[in-house]
Amino acid sequence: MRDQADKLRQLRLVKGQGNGDADETPRPSVRTIAVTGGKGGVGKSVLVTNLAIACARRGLRVLLVDGDLSLANLDLLMGLIPKKNLADVVLGQASIEETVLSTPSGVRFLPAASGMEEMADLDDFRRERLLRELSRLESSCDLILVDTAPGIGAQTTHLAAAAETALIVTTPEPTAFSDAYATLKVLRRKGCRDLALVVNRAGSNGEGTRTARRIQAVARRFLEYLPDYLGTVPEDPTVPASAMRQEPLLSIFPHSPAAQAIESLAEILLEGPSPAGPRLVDREGLFEKVANLDR
Ligand SMILES: Nc1ncnc2c1ncn2[C@@H]1O[C@H](COP(=O)(O)OP(=O)(O)OP(=O)(O)O)[C@@H](O)[C@H]1O
Ligand SMILES: [Mg+2]
Repeated sequence: MRDQADKLRQLRLVKGQGNGDADETPRPSVRTIAVTGGKGGVGKSVLVTNLAIACARRGLRVLLVDGDLSLANLDLLMGLIPKKNLADVVLGQASIEETVLSTPSGVRFLPAASGMEEMADLDDFRRERLLRELSRLESSCDLILVDTAPGIGAQTTHLAAAAETALIVTTPEPTAFSDAYATLKVLRRKGCRDLALVVNRAGSNGEGTRTARRIQAVARRFLEYLPDYLGTVPEDPTVPASAMRQEPLLSIFPHSPAAQAIESLAEILLEGPSPAGPRLVDREGLFEKVANLDR
């Protein structure tokens, strides 16, 4: 697993050098992935939490960010009680180091708070302070995974668009399917190149594949874009059982079908290369992009 992490780091460094732009500022080689999906309750938070753990087990330095700024709840899924959150950083009451939590799985976790919509209205001073604090973390990560709120509101889609890759989670239900397509459409409009589908709560792999193929067919026809299909996670009673016990699925039911499927997703995610072709390393880091969105 260490080998895989080393390979990933090398790959990222090579890609970072390939931009050919003379005044490009070298950036730390950090990959950013947002987990989004349109419809509420499709399993974004469960997936992002456990993907973070799976990637950390493969030797990556993972930062998990709760980007559901209005109803932050990743702390519950992680079984943590944060003393500080991003609101404290914004108010200058905590540094980012005091806010980030180390977890037993090796994932570092950045909790959010309810009522953080005001982030968009930060004055320049506070925005700069938050940006400076957040950017300090990027250099010590290989992978930043961001959970997002449901819906296709500006805050969620901005966050997803600022990441290099957006994983769009759906279930086989028609409503989820249709919201996943709406998300795909908005993110394509925002210029996102690397979008991938995950089907959660499927009755079988076949059902998951059929769901993904239908979304791919609609996207190809109407958006002239073919999102990648990463895989399916089955409907599995160990998922709500782990949430009830406030422990991550991969920690307490590592051999359950859903946990095994998430492990496979992590393998595929880290294997790359991206179907959208080589990713470009942005001059702006993830947090810098988010902070600049409303300017
Ligand atoms: N594969 C699965 N099998 C069974 N239950 C699942 C599965 N995935 C998620 N769930 C359940 O679905 C519910 C919603 O999951 P989760 O909170 O991760 O969704 P979400 O997309 O983050 O929701 P929100 O949009 O409200 O943030 C939880 O009760 C969770 O236990
Ligand atoms: Mg959620």
